[in-house]
Amino acid sequence: SAPLRTHAAAKGKFIGTALATSQLANEASYRTIAGTEFSQVTAENAMKWDSTEPSQGQFNFSGADQIVNFATQNNQQVHGHTLVWHQQTPGWVQGLGASAMRQAMQNHIAQVVGHYASNATVTSWDVVNEIFDDNGGWRTSFWYNTLGQSFVADAFRAARAADPDAKLCINDYNVEGINAKSTAMYNLVSSLRQQGVPVDCVGFQSHLAIQYGFPSDMQQNMERFAALGVTVRVTELDVRMQMPRDSSKDTTQATYYRNVVNACLAVTACAGVTIWGFTDKYSWVPDTFSGQGAALIYDENYQQKPSYTAVHDALAGG
Ligand code: G3I
Repeated sequence: SAPLRTHAAAKGKFIGTALATSQLANEASYRTIAGTEFSQVTAENAMKWDSTEPSQGQFNFSGADQIVNFATQNNQQVHGHTLVWHQQTPGWVQGLGASAMRQAMQNHIAQVVGHYASNATVTSWDVVNEIFDDNGGWRTSFWYNTLGQSFVADAFRAARAADPDAKLCINDYNVEGINAKSTAMYNLVSSLRQQGVPVDCVGFQSHLAIQYGFPSDMQQNMERFAALGVTVRVTELDVRMQMPRDSSKDTTQATYYRNVVNACLAVTACAGVTIWGFTDKYSWVPDTFSGQGAALIYDENYQQKPSYTAVHDALAGG
């Protein structure tokens, strides 16, 4: 049967995955599935600040270029991830005073976005990532503590200046349904756009877990953001479970995957869905949530799971 990307394209959507440079370099099965099933890729780590500017002014694009070159060879687009985040950012940034930190942020964005501005493969960026707490307050990261809220508008303006054509996104987790956190994001996006700050899209990471239930108002949430004039996208989808796997958990997981794809298909402004990896052989989940895993659409032997079939059939349906 046709790969996911063929069905997604017929619906005007992308279907994406996150890729790691070491697996791409070392594993043929990984490369084959990554290159054939998906139409968009995100670097799982290679474009983050600690990879691209480990010491001040010393830029290293080796890992990032490896991902971009793979995508170009496979006729895929790259979603850049991520410019301003409180994790995987070197200590030298975190220790700067306000005006030096603002300058370092603007220079980082200028250099990293600028490196790919003329590259047709890289079409969008997560400009700021995870700036809210789950209760809807601002996360008290070193960014916020040093610069206040202003770093967000400054980051978007710097990204627009570096590449006027790239779609610029704000990205977060636990914002899939309508809740305090997604409402804080909604209010911020609305206010930034009123001020002329170039926010083009909103990313819903969608790190879901079968034991926590499905956010059944996800489509409604996408629609309220779309009404602000932005596009939306699912940026890091996975659906973890308490291990061990069994067929009943697999079935529930497949339902969640189908629901996410169907929500995106139902909303014109939803550009597509990216899954945070594809094989259970490689996933951040077991490292972070002890005893949980099996969150993706292929098992650790690269066999398709019910969740693959659910994504496939949803994209191919109707
Ligand atoms: O590269 C080093 C390696 O040199 C070292 O030997 C090894 C020992 O721990 O660590 C390696 O770095 C790890 C890196 O992944 C690359 O594998 C880090 O420890 C590890 O913390 C890092 O985890 C990444 C995590 O972000 C860090 O915050 C995950 O791969 C990545 O999937 C995850 O992705 C995030 C998104 O960027 C933002 N949204 C949430 C999502 C899941 O946490």
